[in-house]
Amino acid sequence: MTHVNPYYVNLKDSFLFYETKARAEAFEAAHPERRVLRLGIGDVTLPLAPVVIEALHKAVEEQARKETFQGYMPELGKDFMKRAAAANYARRGVQLEPEEIFVCYGIGDDLGAIGGLFARENRVAVVEPAYPAYVDTNLMAGREIIPIPGTEENGFLPLPFPGLEAELVYLCSPNNPTGAAYSKAQLQQWVDWANAHEAVLIFDAAYEGFITDPEVPHSIYELPGAKECAIELFSLSKSAGFTGTRLGYTVVPKALIREGKSLQAMWVRNRSTCTNGVSYILQRAGEAALTDEGLRQSRASLGVYRKNADLLTAALERCGIRYFGGQNAPYIWLRCPGGMDSWSFFDWLMEQAGVVGSPGVGFGACGEGWFRFSCFSTPEVTAEAAARLEAILPRLQGQTDP
Ligand code: MLT
Repeated sequence: MTHVNPYYVNLKDSFLFYETKARAEAFEAAHPERRVLRLGIGDVTLPLAPVVIEALHKAVEEQARKETFQGYMPELGKDFMKRAAAANYARRGVQLEPEEIFVCYGIGDDLGAIGGLFARENRVAVVEPAYPAYVDTNLMAGREIIPIPGTEENGFLPLPFPGLEAELVYLCSPNNPTGAAYSKAQLQQWVDWANAHEAVLIFDAAYEGFITDPEVPHSIYELPGAKECAIELFSLSKSAGFTGTRLGYTVVPKALIREGKSLQAMWVRNRSTCTNGVSYILQRAGEAALTDEGLRQSRASLGVYRKNADLLTAALERCGIRYFGGQNAPYIWLRCPGGMDSWSFFDWLMEQAGVVGSPGVGFGACGEGWFRFSCFSTPEVTAEAAARLEAILPRLQGQTDP
């Protein structure tokens, strides 16, 4: 008889965004007359930059001619895309070799696969609230999870503490869902801790495009010692609107050695076995997105999402609701009014205002009583949602709010 993975019993019944989508769809089906506004999953709504569209068309044309047709891609990525990624790091003063950059379809895919480098016995610390796949992928592999809670008191930016014992640590900055972002000095503490403990940091840099504060690092490799202890995951999904196009890369530096083994060499071995590379067409799109012009064009979209954040935070302020984020990140993290728990507020807000967000507890136990809005909707939807919030939230305020 086939034995199934025994660790699935440790997972929640469904993934957070499956659950929120199912509840929103059930509500819409029951109330076809209501216009539901979605500020839940962080999915972009603006089109790709013109230079990216141009590169996509050109690459499709190349695939149409036998002189320029491309078959299998190199498993680790085409040189032109690796060079574009390396040039992006060089803008921040970070020097990486092309062999340290692994092109992938986005962080979601590599998050699951990267665990293949590590033994099951490793204890996994997750700075929470966190994107739930960090926990789920490790639970599926049978690893022990040690949540490190972010709280209002630590500004949702917990730091290493005496007695912390873990071999892997997941960090995301600017953070999804809280929008909190580590300064260079704070992130350095994690780098120093990891080097002192021979641990590995898995650093999710998906939201770096939203950083405006010069004290906030865009890449963990801006910090001395990071190449000796950190793997960085990067995606064009949020910074260049690639959620439906897909492209990203993972950096495994050559200096990252554990138990005498090069993790970079192990990742080459893993990828060359487990992938057939990323589509040529998409890599050309990624290359275009990372040119100066591509970045300039994408910044225009990021500006629209930032204005969405301003609309929502202004509405929350007028309602007297405590919130974090919306500054270096496309998420707003607010305390549920009226002392509600996260899921009760999710249901209440959907029913009363027709606005869908994300319940904070879905990002870890310390997110209970909190809620997340995404700023990726259209300005029109966001403005309407902000108006509905202002009309309805004062009803709850002052009821049992601390
Ligand atoms: C989110 O809403 O947390 C993200 O969009 C999910 C993702 O990147 O897959």
